[in-house]
Amino acid sequence: MNKVKILFVCLGNICRSPLAEGILRQRVEERGIAHLFEIDSCGTAAYHIGKSPDQRSVANALKNGVSYQHAARQLNEDDFDNFDFVIPMDDSNYIDAMSLVPQGAKAKVIKMRAFDDLAKGSDVPDPYYGGENGFQEVFEILDRSVNNFLDHLGKLSEN
Ligand code: 4NP
Repeated sequence: MNKVKILFVCLGNICRSPLAEGILRQRVEERGIAHLFEIDSCGTAAYHIGKSPDQRSVANALKNGVSYQHAARQLNEDDFDNFDFVIPMDDSNYIDAMSLVPQGAKAKVIKMRAFDDLAKGSDVPDPYYGGENGFQEVFEILDRSVNNFLDHLGKLSEN
């Protein structure tokens, strides 16, 4: 069976998208379905290529029981061939991703909070310039959205 390949996208690839990647990795482990997935993240910008995730994000995730690592990389056109879902965090990332996507692959690009039943379609706020509360808020948004996304995939596979 082909793996489902999922790529999360934010601006710098050091706060939001690596956290989404880490949460999804952990949740699929917990559900016993990790073997069915390939999961990655990237940024639309090149500022932080090769860097580890923001330590504030990592520390906050640990408090919530999620541990993860990543090396930042930039989104490129091949990603749209290699992944089934390309999931931007906000409108700006969505517009940047759509400017790279080949015709025929547009339906792969779906905003993260399309799966957030509490605030469908809104942005995952950028916590980079904010305080500790922002990181917790982002964790909760991503955890809810990622769990709903997994439920959505489960329903697709039943059809
Ligand atoms: P991210 O957050 O897109 O969630 O990784 C940011 C990280 C760095 C910057 C902006 C957003 N920056 O301007 O350096």
